[in-house]
Amino acid sequence: MVNQTVMSQKQRYSLVGTGGRARLYVDALADTQREHCRLVSMCDRSQVRMDYYNRHLQEEHQHGVVPTFKADRFEEMIETTRPDIVIVCTTDVMHHEYIIRAMESGCDVISEKPMTVDVGKVQAIRDAIQRTGRSLRVTFNLRYWPLAMKIRELLLEGVVGKPMAVDFSYVLDTSHGADYFRRWHREKDQSGGLLVHKSTHHFDLVNWWIEGQPQSVYALGDLKFYGKANAESRGECYEYGRYTDEVKAEKDPFSMPLDGKDHRGFRGSVLRSLYREAEAETGYIRDQNVFGEGITIEDTMAVMVRYNNGAVLNYSLVTYCSWEGFRLAITGDKGRLEVYVKYGSHIIAENGGDESDEAEGDEYQERLEVFPMFGHPYKVDVPKGEGSHFGGDAGMADQLFSCDPVADPLNRAASEADATASVLIGACANQSMQTGLPVNCLELLEGRPQAE
Ligand SMILES: NC(=O)c1ccc[n+]([C@@H]2O[C@H](COP(=O)([O-])OP(=O)(O)OC[C@H]3O[C@@H](n4cnc5c(N)ncnc54)[C@H](O)[C@@H]3O)[C@@H](O)[C@H]2O)c1
Repeated sequence: MVNQTVMSQKQRYSLVGTGGRARLYVDALADTQREHCRLVSMCDRSQVRMDYYNRHLQEEHQHGVVPTFKADRFEEMIETTRPDIVIVCTTDVMHHEYIIRAMESGCDVISEKPMTVDVGKVQAIRDAIQRTGRSLRVTFNLRYWPLAMKIRELLLEGVVGKPMAVDFSYVLDTSHGADYFRRWHREKDQSGGLLVHKSTHHFDLVNWWIEGQPQSVYALGDLKFYGKANAESRGECYEYGRYTDEVKAEKDPFSMPLDGKDHRGFRGSVLRSLYREAEAETGYIRDQNVFGEGITIEDTMAVMVRYNNGAVLNYSLVTYCSWEGFRLAITGDKGRLEVYVKYGSHIIAENGGDESDEAEGDEYQERLEVFPMFGHPYKVDVPKGEGSHFGGDAGMADQLFSCDPVADPLNRAASEADATASVLIGACANQSMQTGLPVNCLELLEGRPQAE
């Protein structure tokens, strides 16, 4: 009887979208947050992927089988399993659909980033919030990374004074960066392009750090490295459409076969179970050739943003670098803060195939320095967070699923308004890349001219 009462008091969650990222939520709900949370159902286009998670729940967490529903039975799932909160973890272009349908069915929503892929869908979500009175949290896990929190703390303490200029240069390596060109992210209408899908994290961090609202955006971007035409212009020829079972792709350093072998930081058994074994069901091909046809996103991007507090951001994203990390500088009227982070790189032996993820001198490096305007510069030590996304995932899950309000002096919990601001920068950048002109953020969002 006591147990039943405790069970019934648990917050009930449904998970829509059971691909790679879903694991964070499944593990949190079935393990670290199990005392006060309950995963009551899962929904996806793929039964194979949902079955994988049910096996994972039983084998890794000694958890019972969770009821599963194919995508066309979403409302039935809500009716029969009665979640309080729906977690949306589908491909980006479907977020708005499930956010809105969940709210209309009486649920609050937690959505993976980006909130959605374009401003029309942003507006539809905002309308649904107004209409239903339900709440939306967007999971910007990087806000919970100890380094990102330290930067926010230092800025709140006023170490640079009023932030006026931000330089943020981000590079993705040929493993992580290439991965966006192997699957749905490579199509702009599915992901919004990387200035929405990926940079939503970075724009959100800047908006949060400097407490600014974007006003206008100018951007340039191209597909310069990946894609068939670029490979051909370098005299390279890749005949295969995908990598799995392709003998010729064996020595291709960009290859990612779904044959069960581990691959540059990706677990082979998971890739095979989640994607290869589900192909016949949904036609989702996870390992497309990054030098194939059909890529409609950019791989090289530069963006300038003007903020309502007078600050300007100069941002770039390059997706085919030999190492991954970023350089950041925030300059204000009292000083400057500089950050350098190198996550390490993936070195491929010349014979192809073999690799060393941790070449000598290639380990994680982090440097945070403050340069007061007329004072001595000093370094700030930040503990490296443990686990996925440098501790960001665990920190976020603790706050997201806690039954008691967690003290949040840094204001890390991201609302729909925060998520709108970061998608808006990406959407304006997309328009600016098309037209060659700067874009006014509010004009794009509201579809009407704004007073200067
Ligand atoms: N915050 C982070 O650090 C982080 C990291 C990775 C992914 N993500 C986000 O998580 C989400 C999922 O990414 P992923 O890497 O797991 O992708 P994935 O391709 O592995 O999984 C996407 C899942 O969505 C399902 N899906 C597609 N259309 C659907 C529909 N109409 N109805 C129901 N299910 C549908 C697919 O079948 C698949 O199982 C994305 O929004 C991505 O941006 C966030």
